[in-house]
Amino acid sequence: MRLLVTGGCGFIGSNFIRHVLEEHPEDEVLNLDKLTYAGNPANLADVEDSPRYLFHKGDVCEADDVAMAFSWGPDAVVNFAAETHVDRSISGPETFVRTDVLGTCRLLEQAREKGIRFLQISTDEVYGSIREGSFTEKSPLQPNSPYAASKAGADLLVRSYTRTYGLDAVIVRSSNNYGPFQYPEKVIPLFVTNLLEGRKVPLYGDGSNVRDWLYVGDNCRGIDLALRSGLSGEIYNIGAGQEKTNLELTRAILDILGAGEESVERVRDRLGHDFRYSVDSTKLRELGWSPRRDFEDGLRETVQWYRENAAWWEPIKSGEFRRYYMEKYGDI
Ligand code: NAD
Ligand code: TYD
Repeated sequence: MRLLVTGGCGFIGSNFIRHVLEEHPEDEVLNLDKLTYAGNPANLADVEDSPRYLFHKGDVCEADDVAMAFSWGPDAVVNFAAETHVDRSISGPETFVRTDVLGTCRLLEQAREKGIRFLQISTDEVYGSIREGSFTEKSPLQPNSPYAASKAGADLLVRSYTRTYGLDAVIVRSSNNYGPFQYPEKVIPLFVTNLLEGRKVPLYGDGSNVRDWLYVGDNCRGIDLALRSGLSGEIYNIGAGQEKTNLELTRAILDILGAGEESVERVRDRLGHDFRYSVDSTKLRELGWSPRRDFEDGLRETVQWYRENAAWWEPIKSGEFRRYYMEKYGDI
């Protein structure tokens, strides 16, 4: 299969490309990525010489860039390209609307023209927050952040293309991912690298918010299954059922790194902070998926990866990220 992957230089996209090249020796991948602050070609340094991997720098919002990528003749598109950080969407929503909604629209147009399968990488955040129980694929969309609203907008566009034009499209909505190559603005790599640098970790509010943690490799297997076996027009949730409050997560990271509670700095809560995300992934499990990585093992391995790959994250943290960090957290 010839796969056009967008946003493949980001965290999940790069893990997914590596997964495809390893698991499907016949497959070829073209990665279309704008290389925003979150896109890093170093995430794929180990595969860049593969004859089955091509990179094209381009913007999913630019029709010419998208047309160029489609002229390669893909059999399917997997759309990871997005602005992804909730906090940045609160301080500047427009780029989220542009990339996550307009970018998806541009890709859908080309997929429709070429008549190829479209896999949209969405998020459990489109359902909003849930106190008890889990959202199914039939739950209403109630996004609360500009990020989640932009992703929900994209999902609705995908749905409309299946109904209006009969496009062969599938949507996956996963819970919070963690693992290697995650940009250090997200909570796990931020806290791990801060501790490795001898800094404190900025915990929002009282730390009682709950997230369901999914190892990125488990998500990649789920995405791959939905791509190859998902039914057209369907949505598949992906969650591992490994819920932690942010305080539990923080303590687990502190423990692994031998740091104490004095390393935790309570900071002002996020605006509109969703309390809990939880999805029911029975539908994907019925296709044969289940998570393999236990959270405690996955977290330990992830911490170890950041310990061993300071050469990957130190330039990020001392570059443009530093200004962003200082504005947001001050000298924590
Ligand atoms: P990321 O922020 O690490 O990477 C995003 C990638 O998209 C980067 O390589 C960036 O350069 C690229 N990109 C951004 N704008 C672009 C544009 N206009 N044109 C082309 N490329 C562009 O993101 P991630 O965490 O890997 O998330 C990937 C996808 O998975 C996103 O769609 C996100 O909504 C979804 N998702 C993420 C999580 C998570 O926990 N990280 C959970 C559920 C869903
Ligand atoms: P994040 O990694 O930004 O993912 P999302 O908001 O998409 O779930 O945040 C995960 C949780 O961690 C969320 O409840 C907010 C919290 N958090 C902090 O407490 N401190 C931080 O510095 C960050 C970035 C997040």
